[in-house]
Amino acid sequence: MGLQALRCPSGHRFDAARQGYVNLLSGRGTRFTADSAQMIMARERVQDAGVFAALSEELARILIQDLPQRGTAWAAESALLLDCGAGTGHYLHQLLEVIPSAHGIALDLSTAGLKRAARHPRTLALAWDLWQPLPLASDSVDLLLDVFAPRNVAEYARVLRPGGLAVVVTPGDSHLIELRSAGMLEVQGQKLHQLQEQMAPSFGAPEQSTQVTTAVPVDAGLAADLVFMGPAGHHHDHDTLRESLLAREVSQVTVHLDVSLWRG
Ligand SMILES: C[S@@+](CC[C@H](N)C(=O)[O-])C[C@H]1O[C@@H](n2cnc3c(N)ncnc32)[C@H](O)[C@@H]1O
Repeated sequence: MGLQALRCPSGHRFDAARQGYVNLLSGRGTRFTADSAQMIMARERVQDAGVFAALSEELARILIQDLPQRGTAWAAESALLLDCGAGTGHYLHQLLEVIPSAHGIALDLSTAGLKRAARHPRTLALAWDLWQPLPLASDSVDLLLDVFAPRNVAEYARVLRPGGLAVVVTPGDSHLIELRSAGMLEVQGQKLHQLQEQMAPSFGAPEQSTQVTTAVPVDAGLAADLVFMGPAGHHHDHDTLRESLLAREVSQVTVHLDVSLWRG
C-alpha cells in the first residue's frame, strides 16, 4: 500500500492524493501560478526524448564524484536528496538510481508534475511553495537540486547538512539560441555571476561550476514542446507554435547549461 497521509508535529493531517503526492498547501494557497498539465506533458516529452541527457550525465557525475568524500553519509539509509521545483522529478529519479539507499523529496506547486514525481518508490512528492519556509528540518538534506526553478537561498542553506551539496542548474548564454533567435523564447534566466551573487550570502563561492553544451536534433513537435514547457506555455497554443517552427525549419537546438555546486 502506498503513502496514506502525513501528520505534522502539531497534529495536522495531510492526506495523500490518489496519485501519491501530498498537498501541504491545502488551505494556504499561493500567489504563484503552477505549470499546467499541458506544460508538464511537454516537459516530459522533451526529457523522454533525451534532449537534456547530457545534463543527466553531468548530475550523475557530480554525485559519483562526491561518493568517496562522503561515503558513509551516502551509504546511510537516511541519505536525503531534495529537488526544489522538481517538475516531473526526472533528475531526482535518475539520481536516486545512482544511490539505491537514498530517499528523495520533490517540492513543486504543480500537481501535474507531482503526480509524475510520486511514481518513484523512494520519492515523497509534496505540493509546496518554495517561497515559504521549506517543510524540512534544518541540516537534513544531503543533496539539494534546483534545475531552472526559483531559489530560496536562505532556506536552502538552512535545510542542507554541513558538507552537503547544493547543485543549481541555470541556462547558459546560448541555451536554445535557435528558438530565441526565431523570437519564440525570451532570453532566459540570470547570468552566472548574478546567480553567484544570489547564493554568496548563504553559501560563499561555488565549489565548482561546469558547462554542459550539446547540439540536439529536434523536429517541429519537439521544438514546440521546448517552447511550450516554459513560461511561454502559459500564453501560447501548441499547434500554432509547431506550425510556426515547421515553417522556420528548426532542426537542431543548442543545449547550454551552467551547473554550479556549493557545499553546505
Ligand atoms: C522550469 S520548471 C523546471 C522543472 C524541473 N526542475 C525540470 O528541470 O524538469 C520550474 C518548476 O518550478 C515550479 N515552481 C515555480 N514556482 C514555484 C514555487 N514558488 N514553488 C514551488 N515550485 C515552483 C514550476 O511548477 C515548475 O515545475
